[in-house]
Amino acid sequence: MPAVALVTGGSRGIGLGITRRLLADGFAVSILATREEPSELLESLDAPGRVRYVRGSVADLEDHARFVDDAVEAWGRLDLLVNNAGVAPSVRADLLEAGPESFDRVLGINLRGPYFLTQTFAHRVISLGSSFAERPRATVINVSSISATTVSTNRGDYCISKAGVAMATQLFAVRLAPEGIVVYEVRPGVIATDMTAGVTEKYDALIAEGLAPINRWGRPSDVAGAVSMLASGQTPYSTGEVFHVDGGMHIPVL
Ligand SMILES: NC(=O)c1ccc[n+]([C@@H]2O[C@H](COP(=O)([O-])OP(=O)(O)OC[C@H]3O[C@@H](n4cnc5c(N)ncnc54)[C@H](O)[C@@H]3O)[C@@H](O)[C@H]2O)c1
Repeated sequence: MPAVALVTGGSRGIGLGITRRLLADGFAVSILATREEPSELLESLDAPGRVRYVRGSVADLEDHARFVDDAVEAWGRLDLLVNNAGVAPSVRADLLEAGPESFDRVLGINLRGPYFLTQTFAHRVISLGSSFAERPRATVINVSSISATTVSTNRGDYCISKAGVAMATQLFAVRLAPEGIVVYEVRPGVIATDMTAGVTEKYDALIAEGLAPINRWGRPSDVAGAVSMLASGQTPYSTGEVFHVDGGMHIPVL
């Protein structure tokens, strides 16, 4: 039986890159996403019996058990949760104008959702009771953002959600260590996906001005490579780590 990964938002953008990479690594992958099942895309992944799709929202806590249980029923084990799904605010609004609806939506999907999904995942991993003498019993990887520490005053809700994900990573890393579950944060910079499609010109200009030492747009495969590495079980004595995938953008330069 292959190792089993759950990937939220695993059918588009960074999440699709992660799904492709984990399938190539030999995982079975279950995807949680809100849209109608993308049958053609799933077929194109060419991994019969190793891909499942659960339609639901990470913001809806009732969908969490359905998502986790579906994979356990299909494959009988859980090895990896990638909390990837996330949204930007529908409208970028100045901090003095932004409203509570956007705040609640963004926090609900980006922070409250993965926080409680991790709780559900951890309970199921523990109840499955596999041994973890040598390797981690399971891994949780949170996809945060450079916005966890970098201020954008026109999307405060997004920044706060990602700062919260950074703290959730540390909280769960400590609580789940004795359970044999390691928790990591992958922190992307500027990645070419639907999320950034509307601000292409802005980032093209910033990149031309030298936004990051590795001076190009990031790709979903860049983030997927980091997830693959951290999910490989090769770092069993590390938890709570933050792995930047931002071309070095986070390094302060004088
Ligand atoms: N693109 C970037 O530059 C960038 C940078 C840093 C961090 N990130 C983060 O990476 C993650 C993926 O972003 P992306 O760029 O691929 O975005 P995207 O918009 O291309 O894809 C987002 C994915 O999340 C899913 N999703 C959205 N709401 C959901 C919900 N309620 N329930 C389940 N799934 C839901 C979508 O279906 C989609 O598959 C997000 O957490 C985002 O904040 C992106």
